[in-house]
Amino acid sequence: MADKPPGFDTLAIHAGGAPDSATGARITPIYQTTAFVFNDVQHASDLFALRAFGNIYTRIMNPTQSVLEGKVAALEGGTAALSVASGHAAQLLVFHTMMQPGDEFIASRQLYGGSINQFNHSFKSFGWHVVWADADDISSFEKAISPKTKAIFVESIANPGGRVTDLEAIAKVAKKAGIPLIVDNTLATPYLCQPFKHGANIVVHSLTKFMGGHGNSMGGVIVDGGNFDWSKSGKYPLLSEPNESYHGIKLHETFGGIAFAIACRVLGLRDLGPSIAPLNSFLILTGMETLGLRMQRHCDNALKVATWLSTHKNVAWVNYAGLPSDKHHALQKKYAPKGAGAVFTFGLKGGYDAGVKMVSSVKMLSHLANVGDTRSLIIHPASTTHSQLSPDQLIKAGAGPDVVRLSIGIEDADDIIADIDQAMS
Ligand SMILES: Cc1ncc(COP(=O)(O)O)c(C=O)c1O
Repeated sequence: MADKPPGFDTLAIHAGGAPDSATGARITPIYQTTAFVFNDVQHASDLFALRAFGNIYTRIMNPTQSVLEGKVAALEGGTAALSVASGHAAQLLVFHTMMQPGDEFIASRQLYGGSINQFNHSFKSFGWHVVWADADDISSFEKAISPKTKAIFVESIANPGGRVTDLEAIAKVAKKAGIPLIVDNTLATPYLCQPFKHGANIVVHSLTKFMGGHGNSMGGVIVDGGNFDWSKSGKYPLLSEPNESYHGIKLHETFGGIAFAIACRVLGLRDLGPSIAPLNSFLILTGMETLGLRMQRHCDNALKVATWLSTHKNVAWVNYAGLPSDKHHALQKKYAPKGAGAVFTFGLKGGYDAGVKMVSSVKMLSHLANVGDTRSLIIHPASTTHSQLSPDQLIKAGAGPDVVRLSIGIEDADDIIADIDQAMS
């Protein structure tokens, strides 16, 4: 009994943190400081040369951030984590650590629209090329592999379509090609799905969403699975080759199973700079203590709303993997058995105009570009988040003209349904 590992909710409250060693404060303080005093010159020199771990400067590391990192790593079952300013910053640092100019990576087309933009446009200026694949067609990943491919990127539960990805099948493709599988686990959170158990090597999150959970703080995180050999193929020189900015240290050889998280911190975060504010780390930490309770309620409410919508006369279709009739239901049962998350789409028979009218008519739901708040949120992607995509890309991303996206909150389900009902009528 004594050896039984702690459960998810216990970890969500206790992992990563302890009473403050200096003051006894039970809650992790907001270490609102830019820099940290060295013990002596040797200590400073050891920190800068990576011979010792410790705080130097908040761009690179800070005690409030460290508690957040410990908690996320424990919940995901990873070896280490790095918290950063946003989900997009996490993605930037992950690819910065793996890619050289001219390299390629494969990504599922069924992704958050902002990630599609980041990969298609901004990453191009680094010389990193995305090759798109279809998460419902595993062979499209196999066909996209080339000698230049450095990674595969998917979302476990995809935004906005709510589809569930067959992680094990895609992990098999990645493993065969000798490249890592990166999983954006934002919509699922580790409460619903733990991608490392299904073959992922790196997990990223927008902490801005369900992890923080209250719509008040931007944040992102990279979690290292500690289960990829960065030296074997010679494809990842930042990890396998001597690093000039650290006296020739080889990061993978030196840090083993936490090398990827270390590299993202001491190279990417040091040089690109998207650090998370200590206040945001604190707010996200507070939110994460109730992750399990909130996610279960989000999922239960979402299932009630999706079931109700599926019989509504104005609704053409509902895409929610929690519905037994949904084509991703079997995958949901396998990868996210406690629930299908709270973000999903449905189609209005009235098309684009009906979508615009509906988001203008809600009273309690908030019309805004976010997901994962305690409040229920609504958006019409074709006129907002996804408006920059071509008609073809809109359809492939699950954001056609008739599509409305909901992020179901933890209010009383009857009140959510009543507001959607009045807006549709
Ligand atoms: C699935 C997913 N990944 C990544 C991001 C980007 O996160 P952030 O807005 O924190 O940069 C988002 C934002 O909506 C998202 O939904």
